[in-house]
Amino acid sequence: MAAVPTPEAAPRPRHVAIIMDGNGRWARARSRPRSFGHREGVEALRRAVEAAGELGVPYLTVFGFSTENWRRPPDEVNALLELLRLYVDRDLERLASEGVRVRVIGARDNLNPDILEMIERAERRTAQNTALNLTIAFNYGGQQEITRAAKKLAGDVAGGRLKLEDVSPDVFAGYLDTRDLPAPDIVIRTSGELRLSNFLLWQAAYSELVFLDVLWPDFDRAAMERAIAEFTRRDRRYGGIGGEASS
Ligand code: FPP
Repeated sequence: MAAVPTPEAAPRPRHVAIIMDGNGRWARARSRPRSFGHREGVEALRRAVEAAGELGVPYLTVFGFSTENWRRPPDEVNALLELLRLYVDRDLERLASEGVRVRVIGARDNLNPDILEMIERAERRTAQNTALNLTIAFNYGGQQEITRAAKKLAGDVAGGRLKLEDVSPDVFAGYLDTRDLPAPDIVIRTSGELRLSNFLLWQAAYSELVFLDVLWPDFDRAAMERAIAEFTRRDRRYGGIGGEASS
């Protein structure tokens, strides 16, 4: 059985995941178009990556574009896709030279070939890096990811490559897009909304949820430090008794 970490063993987060919310409200407060908020959101993403490096957090995962985001007006969808392209074009070489490994999780089957090519290029270029693992959830939905994993697993059982009695949570996790990542210790959501919105549904089973009252474009290292401090204060019991109650 996989060892259950004790609260004492997990004082520092290894993996911080972020729902970057509030770009639209940030722009509206300044009477600017929503795309302006998303552009500033990219700056906040740069600050978050830098803060993760400085604070010794080796895994950072961000929700860049959800499967539901396709429902936004075409102009906004295009602006978001363009920002991802700009981010990769402008930052890939710097991220690569700083030892950042870029991964993208989410569905790939319905993506434009140029976006797919860009994603694969970013992953290939940084595949040997180990200093910081930046994962961008793009065209991502937790329920869709779990469904994809279940279909693949069912195919392996039907094809005789996996025995039904060998299926366990650990085996199932190996079919998820996040198979190479530890579970997030913290899921942060900015902007004061209190929802997971289909983000890392399986992986967040034991994550501490931290809701910050800042809009994403205002996110900075101090906000990341507040979230980590909140995590460190909480007593993580993983279903056991834990903490002082166990002594
Ligand atoms: C939520 O704000 C944010 C998003 C839908 C996308 C986040 C995208 C970025 C930070 C841009 C960079 C993206 C990539 C992939 C590099 P919202 O528009 O829902 O804000 P609102 O709730 O205030 O309307």
